[in-house]
Amino acid sequence: MTSAPAVEPFDAVDVIACKRDGGRLSRDRIDWVVDAYTRGVVAEEQMSALAMAIYLRGMEPQEIADWTRAMIDSGERMDFSALDRPTADKHSTGGVGDKITLPLAPLVAVFGVSVPQLSGRGLGHTGGTLDKLESIPGWRAELSNDQIMEMLGERGPGAVICAAGAGLAPADRRLYALRDTTATVSCIPLIASSIMSKKIAEGTGALVLDVKVGSGAFMKELDQARELARTMVGLGVQAGVVTRALLTDMSVPLGLTVGNALEVRESLEVLAGGGPDDVVELTVALGQEMLAAAGRPTGRDELRAALGDGRAMDVWRAMVSRQGGDPDAALPRAAHTEVLTAPSDGVLTGLDALAVGVAAWRLGAGRARKEDAVQAGAGIELHAKPGEAVRAGAPLATLHTDTPERFERALQVLREGVVVSPALSQEAEAAQALRGRGVIIERIADEPA
Ligand code: URA
Repeated sequence: MTSAPAVEPFDAVDVIACKRDGGRLSRDRIDWVVDAYTRGVVAEEQMSALAMAIYLRGMEPQEIADWTRAMIDSGERMDFSALDRPTADKHSTGGVGDKITLPLAPLVAVFGVSVPQLSGRGLGHTGGTLDKLESIPGWRAELSNDQIMEMLGERGPGAVICAAGAGLAPADRRLYALRDTTATVSCIPLIASSIMSKKIAEGTGALVLDVKVGSGAFMKELDQARELARTMVGLGVQAGVVTRALLTDMSVPLGLTVGNALEVRESLEVLAGGGPDDVVELTVALGQEMLAAAGRPTGRDELRAALGDGRAMDVWRAMVSRQGGDPDAALPRAAHTEVLTAPSDGVLTGLDALAVGVAAWRLGAGRARKEDAVQAGAGIELHAKPGEAVRAGAPLATLHTDTPERFERALQVLREGVVVSPALSQEAEAAQALRGRGVIIERIADEPA
């Protein structure tokens, strides 16, 4: 943030009117409006109007780049150049059951690349990485910059998952909260600049983006997801960060668990060499991308071996202990469970990610407002995935919560998201054909097309 000028060089109303009328915002105007908003000179209602104008009118690539840089300049930038190893980070645009960061960060560190994974808490139907880790008894998310450096350096585990400090892109922190209350979140220029300002300020040398597509994601359509991925890859490359993206499926939940402690448990299975195929596949694919982007290309089999032989688990245990957690402590379990069963014989043809995410949220796994607490044990365990044959009365999902009055509303939405079709139907054949298709849809790299 710059010091306040004696006289403000621009007027917020002019800036809003320019974008409202479909104009292009100059770099000077963008620098000023983002800085003046951070200083409190541009009022919340003015920034709301500007965000809506951007939402409706869009931004050109140069405007998005200038907006991103202005948000980076609103705060501090971390610098990992003193480390003796390259750094790589991963960012997911958010999905249901997305626990990949937990096995991925220690796995990448095994191969000599440090992983500064500065994360957030969840809001709405997608979970937050910190909420998941906070279900481990004793584990704490807040670390100083010196502690982060210690975790990443030679004498640390080489990976850290912790809260992003308030000093990183503070303009985005305020703007994101404002967008949440003004229906201006789902806008590619604003999402891309929000995510990339934090990631570039974080100081990673390489970045891999997991851009989710499908009902449980921000981006429901492939075209939108591709545009978001390309925009973010472009911003990263322009800022000197080696950036790549995978477009991945979020039409069904990832893995078999949704909810904080439940997802930690599944991550431990992956770190012990097991776990659901889709979680392992995505962990290994993102690991490969991160290592290659950091200049340490590593084969799929080598990554799988580090999950199977305990090396990734050793890093995980060190990471958890260094942040006050007990890696051997029992994870919390919810006090009550309820089982959703298959209504008929057939094939599970639909398991909608959004429905499962909202159901887990209603059980207490997520929060509606930033200030809300989450239940560590709440969530959903899935017993079948699309394409599998099921018998009438067989369990499809177990719901977990400490507050059983939540079951009814969670079951309501979950039932709507689950479809069992007769085994001989076209839907069943299509679901069975898609089974095992894999989660990775497309790769977008920073190399010229
Ligand atoms: N995540 C962010 O950090 N910002 C957005 O705008 C959307 C998702």
